[in-house]
Amino acid sequence: MLRAVGPALQAINPVPHVVAKVHNDRVRPLPNPLTCGAIMSGTPHARRAVLRAAAIAPVAGLGLAACSPGDGNGNRSAPTKPVDLGASDEVPVGGSKLYTDQNVVVSRVAEDEYKAFSSICTHARCPIEKLQGSKLICQCHGSQFDARNGEVLQRPAVAPLKELPVKVEDGKIVAGPGA
Ligand code: FES
Repeated sequence: MLRAVGPALQAINPVPHVVAKVHNDRVRPLPNPLTCGAIMSGTPHARRAVLRAAAIAPVAGLGLAACSPGDGNGNRSAPTKPVDLGASDEVPVGGSKLYTDQNVVVSRVAEDEYKAFSSICTHARCPIEKLQGSKLICQCHGSQFDARNGEVLQRPAVAPLKELPVKVEDGKIVAGPGA
C-alpha cells in the first residue's frame, strides 16, 4: 500500500512528490534519485540534507533507504566461478551483450578480444537490466556505465564495474573468477 506520509518523512526527504511505502506498519521511503545523486555530488545543500536525515532517521525509526537497492531480478551476485554464457558469435565485433541471469556484460572489443564485467551496479548493488548499445543503464537510480571498459558514464555510481576474467572455449564465452 502506498500513501504519502507526514512531516517526519518530508524532513528526511525534502522532495515533495516522493512518497513512502507503508507495509505492516513499517515505513520505507521510496528510492529518490535526486537525493542519491546529491549525496554523491557532495554539494553543501546535499550534505545538509543528508546530515539532517541521519539525525532524524533513528528517532523516527526510518532508515536512509533512499539509496537502497531497488527492484531487480533477485540475484544480486556476479559469478564467483566460471560460467558458460553461450556462443561467442552472439556478441558481434564492437558490440556488447548483457546476460541478466548471470549478471555479466560482455563486450567484444576486437575479433578475438572480449571484456567481461559484473553488471551489479556499484552504487547500491542493483543488478542492471538495461543495455543500450554499449551503455548499461541502472534502473534503480539512473547510473550509467560503459560496457566496453566498465567506466562510470553517469552518477550516482562513482566506482567502475568489476572486471571479470573471460575466455572463449570451444566457441563459447566463459566468464568469472578462474576463467
Ligand atoms: S543501484 Fe543506484 S544507480 Fe544503480
